[in-house]
Amino acid sequence: MTLRGRFITLEGIDGAGKSSHIEALLHWLRARGQTVLVTREPGGTPLAEQLRDMLLHQPMDPLTEALLMFAARRDHVVHQIEPALAEGTTVLCDRFTDASFAYQGGGRGFSLDTLTQLEAWVQQGLQADLTLWFQASPATAAARRAAARAPDRFEAQDQAFFERVSAGYARRQQAQPERFALVDAEQPRDEVWAQIETCLQARNWW
Ligand code: TYD
Repeated sequence: MTLRGRFITLEGIDGAGKSSHIEALLHWLRARGQTVLVTREPGGTPLAEQLRDMLLHQPMDPLTEALLMFAARRDHVVHQIEPALAEGTTVLCDRFTDASFAYQGGGRGFSLDTLTQLEAWVQQGLQADLTLWFQASPATAAARRAAARAPDRFEAQDQAFFERVSAGYARRQQAQPERFALVDAEQPRDEVWAQIETCLQARNWW
């Protein structure tokens, strides 16, 4: 019987710098003999990528936004994540459901009870094995975003929004602390990577 793969997610506010470590994570895992799927949310399948485009650029009410996030997630879980995990692949996902609790729940103030129901329907018990939470202050993240490309609908939000998003992440981490690894993303890039490597080694999975 093939051993189930590990499901690793990366989270944090826009500009925390999580995406810039995915490549290094991929190499680190491959060097240890792992087959790896790198993917992202919203997105990861043709249908979910279409929904991503709408979610990032078209105005919509908070319930529509939450439903589309979870519709994209459902397609992604069924067609990519679950099959990959079942065949022993390590899945590296740039954002997952914690982002819905942080952005829709925290940032938009959308009902956490409804998000909890959507999570149960869509994931049928699936949770990340490890969530790397890149922690940077909203001010640091805003400065990094300003140096990057034109903002999408989420990135264009003000600092108060990102304070609420961070609080949303903190609530998730407090509820499920064993799955979270905290990464101090205020540090220079090499030191951030060193923290990630230490936390991967500590899990002793590979
Ligand atoms: P992100 O991975 O940051 O895209 P990029 O780095 O290419 O800009 O994610 C896109 C946005 O989607 C991000 O601002 C957060 C938002 N988002 C939610 O609001 N809820 C969710 O459930 C997910 C997965 C993402």
